[in-house]
Amino acid sequence: MSTISVTVNGRSYQNDVEPRTLLVHYLRDSLGLTGTHIGCDTSQCGACTVMLDGVSVKSCTLLAVQADGAKITTIEGLAKDGQFHPLQEGEEVSTESVAQPA
Ligand code: FES
Repeated sequence: MSTISVTVNGRSYQNDVEPRTLLVHYLRDSLGLTGTHIGCDTSQCGACTVMLDGVSVKSCTLLAVQADGAKITTIEGLAKDGQFHPLQEGEEVSTESVAQPA
């Protein structure tokens, strides 16, 4: 087991994880953030995309231990002032607006 510390959607977490745990599984299974989806097993669909230190990454391609110390934004973290982000509403948005998390 390895201990990691991350900030996800503005909230700090510290958890023990198996070194082989993928970030997407950590977010979904340990933190309960199921808005990050697993849509393929080939790392091509992008359903698992999150922002990690301001950069979009496919969380199925990273180990949770690689995110140690990082600030992560999942789709749950895109809402502002109680208002859903267009992505949460299922609207079509430009990639520019997605790259600017709260
Ligand atoms: S689950 Fe498809 S790219 Fe990550």
